Amino acid sequence: MYSRIIGTGKYLPDRVLSNLDLEKTLDTSDEWIQSRTGIKRRHIAAENQATSDLAYEAARVAIDDAGLSPHDIDLILVGTATPDLIFPNVACLVQKKLGIKGMAAFSLEAACSGFVYALNIADHFIRSGQASRALVIGAECMSRIVDWTDRETCVLFGDGAGAVVLEKGDKPGIIGSKLAADGSRGDLLRASTGITDTENEGKSPTIQMKGNEVFKLAVKTLGSIVDEILEENQLTKDAIDWLVPHQANFRIIQATARRLDMPMERVVLTVQDHGNTSAASVPMALDTAIRDGRIQRGHLLLLEAFGGGFTWGANLVRF
Ligand code: UT7
Repeated sequence: MYSRIIGTGKYLPDRVLSNLDLEKTLDTSDEWIQSRTGIKRRHIAAENQATSDLAYEAARVAIDDAGLSPHDIDLILVGTATPDLIFPNVACLVQKKLGIKGMAAFSLEAACSGFVYALNIADHFIRSGQASRALVIGAECMSRIVDWTDRETCVLFGDGAGAVVLEKGDKPGIIGSKLAADGSRGDLLRASTGITDTENEGKSPTIQMKGNEVFKLAVKTLGSIVDEILEENQLTKDAIDWLVPHQANFRIIQATARRLDMPMERVVLTVQDHGNTSAASVPMALDTAIRDGRIQRGHLLLLEAFGGGFTWGANLVRF
């Protein structure tokens, strides 16, 4: 038994914040942001939108694309670092919005690697016979945890959601996944405080990042994980049709493509349009390249992500 992707969807909130908009309130420039990151603009959720609203919109599109009704779904998984509430979890909130109940619904925290982690877990549910049709979502409102006075982080992030529907089948599908984490490097990229943080001073959490160190660690860890996942699945670099990377920084993506000897024409790049949307970035990039016709049935895809924790991971997918 395998799982395969039968539908995808994405949702970006209406409000667009461009680099030029940021220039008006911050000591930054469009030139700096574009040359260091590739980002041109990001989308910001409306005041009355929470992560589950974005997730729900992406989910509806993915379920529709799969030709299913919400009632066909028997597992809901959401990767997010910005849940609406501590509980109910975002997957339960999406379940309610979809008007369904009964199936397991849970969220997981692996920051920007959340979707890649969730896809691996959903794949296991399906392979073991515990689910037949899983809704897997990455959704974030990063704008709510950004310090808008910190130019080193606020220019990087945006809001959005991406979703896929996985169905059981007798052919892969998801060929393999590899997940990793190094908790000792948690200080590199973190939310400043939390609910049970013993040093919580009653402040709201904001993103703190040692950008340069994150950059170097991301290039290193992604480089090794792509080699490992190919080796474990007895595939060579040239077998990959599309690299669908976490959209954090154009230069990190370029470094991973170089490691795979892949021309940038075979890399899905969306970071320019929405910045770093954390767990939402991989499923949104996937949906974009499927809808514009670049990714075709039968193509071999390599999905990869890294993020706070430190976490990282990859999925090999026959579309
Ligand atoms: O999903 C995982 C999330 N995180 C990431 O993927 C981030 C990984 N890191 C990066 O993408 C890059 O390290 C950054 C884009 C964050 C920064 O790029 P960099 O090339 O590593 O720049 P830097 O941090 O070395 O800073 C270079 C200069 C500094 O000025 P000085 O000290 O050279 O005078 C910064 O103060 O750029 C300055 N700077 C800015 N200037 C204009 C930092 N942020 C800005 C800004 N606008 N927004």
